[in-house]
Amino acid sequence: MSSVVSEKFSGFLDSVNTRYRRLEWAAGDVVAWLKWSQRRRTVIMVAASFFAIVLALAGLTVTYVTFADLIHPLPYVMEKTAPTPSTRRLASLAQNETLGFGGIAYLSMPYRTDRQDAIELLGSVYGINFTYIPGVDGGSIVEKAKPLHHYWLRPQELGCWRAHVDAWRYLLESDFETLLVLEDDVDFDANIHDVFELLSTQMQHNRIRTTPATEHERKTAPYGLDWDVLYVGQCSDRSNENRLDLVHIYEDPNMPSRHETFDHFVGQLQSLGIHGRNLGKMRAIAPAWSPVCTMGYAITRQGAERLILDLSYRGITAAIDIDIIRKLQQGIIRGYSITPPLFSAWRVDGAKDSDNQGLENDQTKLGSGNRNGYSHSMKTSARKQMAKLLELHNWDDVDRVIPRRPSPTMTAEQEAEEEEEVRKAHIEKKEIEKAWTERKLEMANIMEAWGG
Ligand SMILES: *[C@@H]1O[C@H](CO)[C@@H](O)[C@H](O)[C@H]1NC(C)=O
Ligand SMILES: *[C@@H]1O[C@H](CO)[C@@H](O)[C@H](O)[C@H]1NC(C)=O
Repeated sequence: MSSVVSEKFSGFLDSVNTRYRRLEWAAGDVVAWLKWSQRRRTVIMVAASFFAIVLALAGLTVTYVTFADLIHPLPYVMEKTAPTPSTRRLASLAQNETLGFGGIAYLSMPYRTDRQDAIELLGSVYGINFTYIPGVDGGSIVEKAKPLHHYWLRPQELGCWRAHVDAWRYLLESDFETLLVLEDDVDFDANIHDVFELLSTQMQHNRIRTTPATEHERKTAPYGLDWDVLYVGQCSDRSNENRLDLVHIYEDPNMPSRHETFDHFVGQLQSLGIHGRNLGKMRAIAPAWSPVCTMGYAITRQGAERLILDLSYRGITAAIDIDIIRKLQQGIIRGYSITPPLFSAWRVDGAKDSDNQGLENDQTKLGSGNRNGYSHSMKTSARKQMAKLLELHNWDDVDRVIPRRPSPTMTAEQEAEEEEEVRKAHIEKKEIEKAWTERKLEMANIMEAWGG
């Protein structure tokens, strides 16, 4: 009897024991989980603080970029002078075929007929008269004709120097007062005439002039004649820090957005006090101090004389753009540069397409045409826009001029009128198609006659 009780009791104790163990394990699990989750909490807290800091910084940056123009008012904006009828008339000369300059020359190696095609096509589409000046192979210049210290230059640089001197000479030989010199791979804004017209208005009010514009300048020189070089297509520039008082800033509706503007130019604009929303809105005219590249610049007759004197007659000291920088900094010539520039390079195959790197890699064979190129710092690329302007959907366009179905609200009379128009348009289309078929036949006959 007692053994039965004791057996039951010990059975009961066992089960309590087992339950207690289970409880203990469960508690152990909870403690372990708590410890683990503490670590997790710490990790989460650290990560959250990190993201909070990153978010706050991003927020501050966005706020700064958005409102920086309020914190930094533009330091070099002239008080607004309303253009007078005479300044407006002078500026409107930028609408002419040479953008208000005496002439426009472009340099291109004779074998780059692809680039010449492109420039001439652009000229026709945008109403610009580009005059071809052949590029020069440095190796073809005879020893005696080479300038003093020419040995500083690679043959390609010497050829480049020669072609630019030829352009300056073209100005001296002409009756122009100014010449815009371009290289053959430029792109520009589709509204280039307006861009230059605005530049002229601004230059007529700029603060760099040391003497008031003469009667002659006010009548015929949209950009004045008080400079030697006017950089409108540099790869980069840096300002003379001692003459920031001469900077002139103006708003241009054809400015590329900040995002489309090459970083270097954004930096240059910031160094001139343009921040926030004013980036992508304002251009700057500044004394040219360190303009690299000779992709696009204008010269005056006096500028051409000084350049030929100092960069040919007296010899040279470096590649042409570097030499011009030296003359600018020595005060031998004076000029402005426009940032961001009004001309930018149309890049087809990156540097491979360049003619300045020599022909060792036979770059003449590497071209992939003018398609698929790009240019930076342009609001509306003239080259891209040109393709759209010339686009034609063949006979689809004819369909498009045929009026749509009459709307239900039309009177019977209007309906009849419209039907008549549709009928006429159809006849016209048939006639055009017939003429085209005849033309094709005619062409086929001609080809046959030629034995083709
Ligand atoms: C355009 O205007 C400029 C400035 O007056 C002038 O020198 C040039 O000859 C004009 N160009 C044409 C093609 O008329
Ligand atoms: C383009 O300019 C050149 C050089 O001034 C001139 O000889 C030529 O007649 C001009 N062409 C047109 C179409 O105006």
